[in-house]
Amino acid sequence: MPQTPAQTLPHDTDVLIIGSGAAGLAMALRLPDHLEVLIISKGALVGGSTPWAQGGIAAALGGTEDLEQHIEDTIRAGARLPKRDVVERIVRAGPAQIAWLESLEMPFTHDQEHPDRLHLTREGGHSRRRVAHAADHTGRSLTETLVNAVKARSNITVLEHHNAIDLITARRLGETQDACLGAYVLDIKADRVVTIRSRHTTLATGGAAKAYLFTTNPDGATGDGIAMGWRAGCRVANMEFIQFHPTCLYEPRAKSFLISEAVRGEGGVLLRPDGTRFMPEHHPDAELAPRDIVARAIDAEIKRLGIDCVYLDISFKGREFIETHFPMIHRRCLEFGYDMTREPLPVVPAAHYTCGGVMVDEHAQTDIPGLFAIGETSHTGLHGANRLASNSLLECLVTAEDAARRVAELPSAPPPQASAAIPPWDESQVTDPDEAVVVTHNWDELRRSLWSYVGIVRTTKRLYRARDRINLLRREIHDYYAHFRVSNNLIELRNLVEIADLIVRSALTRHESRGLHYSKDFPDTNPRADHFNTVLVPAPARPYPQVRDRGRSTPLQD
Ligand code: FAD
Ligand code: SIN
Repeated sequence: MPQTPAQTLPHDTDVLIIGSGAAGLAMALRLPDHLEVLIISKGALVGGSTPWAQGGIAAALGGTEDLEQHIEDTIRAGARLPKRDVVERIVRAGPAQIAWLESLEMPFTHDQEHPDRLHLTREGGHSRRRVAHAADHTGRSLTETLVNAVKARSNITVLEHHNAIDLITARRLGETQDACLGAYVLDIKADRVVTIRSRHTTLATGGAAKAYLFTTNPDGATGDGIAMGWRAGCRVANMEFIQFHPTCLYEPRAKSFLISEAVRGEGGVLLRPDGTRFMPEHHPDAELAPRDIVARAIDAEIKRLGIDCVYLDISFKGREFIETHFPMIHRRCLEFGYDMTREPLPVVPAAHYTCGGVMVDEHAQTDIPGLFAIGETSHTGLHGANRLASNSLLECLVTAEDAARRVAELPSAPPPQASAAIPPWDESQVTDPDEAVVVTHNWDELRRSLWSYVGIVRTTKRLYRARDRINLLRREIHDYYAHFRVSNNLIELRNLVEIADLIVRSALTRHESRGLHYSKDFPDTNPRADHFNTVLVPAPARPYPQVRDRGRSTPLQD
């Protein structure tokens, strides 16, 4: 992997990958050597949600019956909304993805009794053990594996601390035929905006759970790729389905530390403060019911009893078992004074995963030629109304390969005419920000509004309340964006308010309760909505020159 190159502007590349999580890194590795690949990340190369993944990667390694059950489990957990053809394709690709990772020397945990086989754990919604993992730090090991492989490739360049602000498209430059031509990117350390031109661009920016006050996600999960894709003219689907993970450690000092579902998969039980188990009262699969059901049950218990949290107990499995299976979680909890080998852990649900995203086809192709979306940013149709545990990393790997295959197949056409005339980023009409407090205040208000009004249980009245607040915040943020120089926080906030709007609009559109979207005003599932997705279609992107600040135009979508 070459060192960060000196910034000659504009930077040209065959393939620009925005994001260095599992999806972005895997795509880069799957592309042929003759293509010049540039990965940018707004943080360090190791960043995003991927390194935090605990449970593992779902893959049916147990033959045909296992494959069929994995397909059914995915559709059942997704409240029958997942697209069967997509589920079949992605699930069937699972074993080959695990084999690929093994070929890269991913240190999967092996079965103690059969050391030639992988140890498989179980999580909610899975009818059997099916989750390949590296102890309880699968994401960290996966990232190390992919990063090592990327470093060995001379055609891949990485630019860290580069935050993509907006996509550059032919239509926005006034052409009638659209194509993605690259992106405007803030070089955070140098504090300047660079233009990156690319023949193919991929959004691999992860999810948007940071829109909520309490989340398991790291700070950068602000839905940038979804917002950029939407602004550029891509359809976005199913944004109402924000997944809440049932068991985040309830400890303010921990800043959203997840307690893996594999803890329940290995026998952990959920308890009220008085020590009684409650999940059997909510679902026949008890603690291993799909995630939406467990999160809603905890939410109901917390509200009914007026308590702060419930408790997750696995202490009865003994120290040796816990230290072997959950070494990282055990160590981290000890740092906060909780010994899970001796006592139950206090837990609460927190926003965890964005099931919706930029709509793509089976080649990870978006609505804009030359633009792909992969991983959590994309909406393939795999997850439906609720993602099955550990299907996300699987989807990252499969969509990354899909996109890479497509790029390799496409003729390497010369860049469209318009790319010759990409205007440089225009800062002539903006000044340095004068009131950074506007940004921090709006961040906080936005995330609080979503948590309070667009949470696990929704009502139409609360959704309208959220919509009103988002509209006010949106105007203020767009006004601020139009007048002041961009910063990392401002770019993220601008995206986050777009995401909040997409979530609320989608939630208001779905007049039923299904999976992660539970509305007191529409408590039933509409059987006719089986194949119905909430697809939002953007207004046509306005060309840059029509707006005052043309390098960074963001027409408000009605
Ligand atoms: P990410 O890994 O989130 O990477 C996003 C990348 O994009 C980062 O490099 C970021 O810096 C970059 N980026 C974002 N915006 C910009 C921008 N504007 N410009 C430039 N770069 C940008 N799933 C499973 O299947 N199994 C699990 O066990 C599991 N456990 C999880 C545990 C936790 C605590 C969390 C938070 C998630 C877990 N998930 C799990 C979900 C899964 O980890 C994520 O869905 C997946 O890692 C997303 O990968 P990604 O490549 O799409 O994005
Ligand atoms: C977990 O380990 O509980 C997270 C798994 C996932 O989000 O798929």
